[in-house]
Amino acid sequence: MFSRSLNVGMTMDNPSAGSSDLTRGLPDAPTSRYNYSGSNYAFWEIDWPIVALMNESSLRSESAFLRLTLYDVEHSQARDVPLRFVEVHGHPHVLYSAESPPDWVSQATESAIVHWCVGHRQFVGTASAVKDPVSFDTAVLPVFEARYGKEQLFRWFGTDMGCIELLESQDGLPYYRGVEALFDSSAPKYDAVVRSNPFDQYLRTVALEILRRQFAPGDRVLELGCGTGLETIPLAEAGVEIVAIDISGGMLRELNRKAREASVHGRVETRQGAIRDLSKILSDLGPGSFDGAFSHFGALNCELHLNSVPESLHRLVKPHGLLSLGIWNRTCLSEMVLFGIILRPRRALARFQSSVPVGSSRFGVPVFPYSPGEIKRLFSPFFSLEGAIGASVLMPPYNLGRRLAPHPGLVGLLEAGDRLVRRRPFFRYLGDHFIVDFRRR
Ligand SMILES: C[S@@+](CC[C@H](N)C(=O)[O-])C[C@H]1O[C@@H](n2cnc3c(N)ncnc32)[C@H](O)[C@@H]1O
Repeated sequence: MFSRSLNVGMTMDNPSAGSSDLTRGLPDAPTSRYNYSGSNYAFWEIDWPIVALMNESSLRSESAFLRLTLYDVEHSQARDVPLRFVEVHGHPHVLYSAESPPDWVSQATESAIVHWCVGHRQFVGTASAVKDPVSFDTAVLPVFEARYGKEQLFRWFGTDMGCIELLESQDGLPYYRGVEALFDSSAPKYDAVVRSNPFDQYLRTVALEILRRQFAPGDRVLELGCGTGLETIPLAEAGVEIVAIDISGGMLRELNRKAREASVHGRVETRQGAIRDLSKILSDLGPGSFDGAFSHFGALNCELHLNSVPESLHRLVKPHGLLSLGIWNRTCLSEMVLFGIILRPRRALARFQSSVPVGSSRFGVPVFPYSPGEIKRLFSPFFSLEGAIGASVLMPPYNLGRRLAPHPGLVGLLEAGDRLVRRRPFFRYLGDHFIVDFRRR
C-alpha cells in the first residue's frame, strides 16, 4: 500500500509478528488518553498460579498495545488481536504488511463498529484505512519510526505497509443502540425465561437475600439497569423507594406494568437512560439524594463508560450509604471446568478476553467481564469494600445449566454446595457472578 525503500539490509522475518508477538522488547508507553498501565487480570485475595502468570504478562504489555476485538457473530465468538499502536491527532493508528495483510484488517474495516481496549479502558468506533500517502509519510510513519526504529518496522511489516486509523465514536451511540435493541427485544419474554431456569432464578434469590438485609422500608435507593424489575418489585413490596434506570424502554414498560399490578407504583420511579448519564439524575435530584444504590446482573458489564460511574454514585449516595453490585465475573470456575472437560479451551477461557459477544446474531453486543480486582480498584477511591460473595460458583452459569433444569434433585444439591462455598476465600471470586458490597466513603 505505502511502499518504502529502506536500506537496512535485512529480510522480513515475520510480518505478522509485529501485531501479535507480545514477548519482544516493549517500547515506552505513549503519553495520551490511551496511556494506561494496569492489568486486566488483577485479582485480590487470590493466589492462583495460572492467573498470576497472566497478570504478569499483561502488566508488562498493557501500555504498549491496544487489543482490537473482532467478533464472529455467527458463532458467538470473539478474539482479541493485540496490536502495537501510535497515536496521531488523538487517534490510534496501527500498521500491517500490505503484501500479506492479516485477516483482522478486512474484518475491522468492513465492520460497522469495532471495539478496542487499552488496559481496562474500552473504546467503540470505526476502523478506516489511511489512504493518503502524504499524511501517512508526514504524520504517521515518523511517529512509528521514532518509537520502534526503521529496522524493526521493516522486519515486522516489510516495505509495503498498510495503516488503519481507529476513530472513537464520540458518543458511543452505535454500541448503546445495540444494547437497547437487544434488551428491548428480550423484554416481553424476559421474566418467563428467568423463571423457567433454576440457575437464572438462583441469582435473583441470592441478590434479594442481600438487598433485603441492606435496605430498610422507607430507604430511597437508586437502581442501575433494573430490567423488568426482578429485584425492584420485591424490594418495593418490602417498603423501599426506588428510582430505577434502564437503557431499554421495553424493559421499563414491563417493570411499570408489574409495579402497577403489585400496587407498588408509588414507590417506583423509572427513568430511561444509560448508566453513564448519571449526571442527569444528579442535576435533577441533587447530591445525596439516595440512601444507597445497587446494580445486579450484567448492567455494569454492558456500560462502556464505567470509569465515571463511581464518582457519580459517590455524589448521589449519602455518606456511609451502601452500594451493592452484581458483576459478571471474568473467572467462572464451573464454566472453565465444563468447557475444559469437553476440550474447548478457547470457550473455557473466553472471559479472559476484553469482551465477549452476547445476544442473538442480530445484535452481538460486546459485554465486558470484570475481575473483582478491577471493580475494587475502580470504586475504592469513593467506596470502601465491605464484603463479597460468589453467585453460581458450583452451579453452572444459567446458559449452560438449562439441560439440568429437569433434574431438581441435582439442582438442589448444586445449590446447597454453592451456598456452602460462596463466602469462602478463593471460591467467592470464582462464580459466574460475584456480588460486592461497598460503603460510601
Ligand atoms: C441482564 S439485565 C439485568 C436486569 C435485572 N437487574 C435483573 O437482575 O434481571 C441487564 C439490564 O441492564 C440494562 N442495561 C444494559 N446496559 C445499560 C446501560 N449502559 N445503562 C443502563 N441500562 C443498561 C439492560 O437494558 C437490561 O435491562
